[in-house]
Amino acid sequence: MIIIKDSEEIIELIKNYKTNFKTIGFVPTMGALHQGHLSLIRKARSENDIVVVSIFVNPLQFGPNEDYKKYPRDLQSDAFLCENENVDIIFAPDESSFYEKPHLTTITVKDLSEKLCGKSRPGHFDGVCTVVNKLFNIVKPNKAYFGKKDYQQLIIVKKMVEDLSMSVKIVPCNIVRDIDGLALSSRNKYLSKEEREEALNIYKSLMEAKELLQNGETNSDKIKKSIENILKSGKRTKIDYIEIVDKDNLNPVNIIDRNTIILIAAFVGTTRLIDNLIVEDIM
Ligand code: PAJ
Repeated sequence: MIIIKDSEEIIELIKNYKTNFKTIGFVPTMGALHQGHLSLIRKARSENDIVVVSIFVNPLQFGPNEDYKKYPRDLQSDAFLCENENVDIIFAPDESSFYEKPHLTTITVKDLSEKLCGKSRPGHFDGVCTVVNKLFNIVKPNKAYFGKKDYQQLIIVKKMVEDLSMSVKIVPCNIVRDIDGLALSSRNKYLSKEEREEALNIYKSLMEAKELLQNGETNSDKIKKSIENILKSGKRTKIDYIEIVDKDNLNPVNIIDRNTIILIAAFVGTTRLIDNLIVEDIM
């Protein structure tokens, strides 16, 4: 496994792989790798000749009052995990040199980026699309792997690829959870012991919704109310949103069917967590 920091260097290497008709699987990350990331890497490993993982805490996707500065960074431990998964290349560009100065180009996927997380994190998905586009141009992957944990991100990236006729296949990957059900996230590191316990309410509320759905409840408001009640029982939790939407266009729905997804964003203490339940997966 090699760790490359320089864009030109990886571009040259990729050119070589392409000449030899090697397929490239790409897993973009911000590091602080956990089993969720590793599940994407394993899938990439099983489907491609060459696996590239990028590790880059992308300043463009953080708001001014967000956790860009304190976001966990540990290249050494990430490299150890990647090595164990037989990753070929880690691309870990320096934050200071990755973007041109001035960097004037932004990719926006309209509409989809304005909903859900886009409302409380204005500009976030523009930052995501811009970096993902730039990384795709550098790595030129045949397939790129994205977690359903960040469901809106997955849908937006898919749309960007479609709209711009980019020749990469986006592969959605299932959410990996801790043993008790909490969705794995690099941000879970921020949680105190008490907050970690309370954060589990997010998963519990989705499991309650699952039970209601399986018992025949299809009314969005009733499911939302049940989720809200569980989340509100935690004194450290502040709900950002509970939304029940069409899983393709992210528009709200009143009656739940197999094409629906339930999404939650909530602060536990100061840590913003997201999770979701895709109805199709449980019905
Ligand atoms: P990051 O939060 O590091 O996540 C990298 C990838 O891992 C994303 O596709 C995310 O959905 C996936 N992932 C995270 N937790 C997961 C879990 N518990 N189960 C399954 N997959 C999980 O998402 C980003 O970075 C950035 O926005 C990025 C796409 C790299 C652009 O900067």
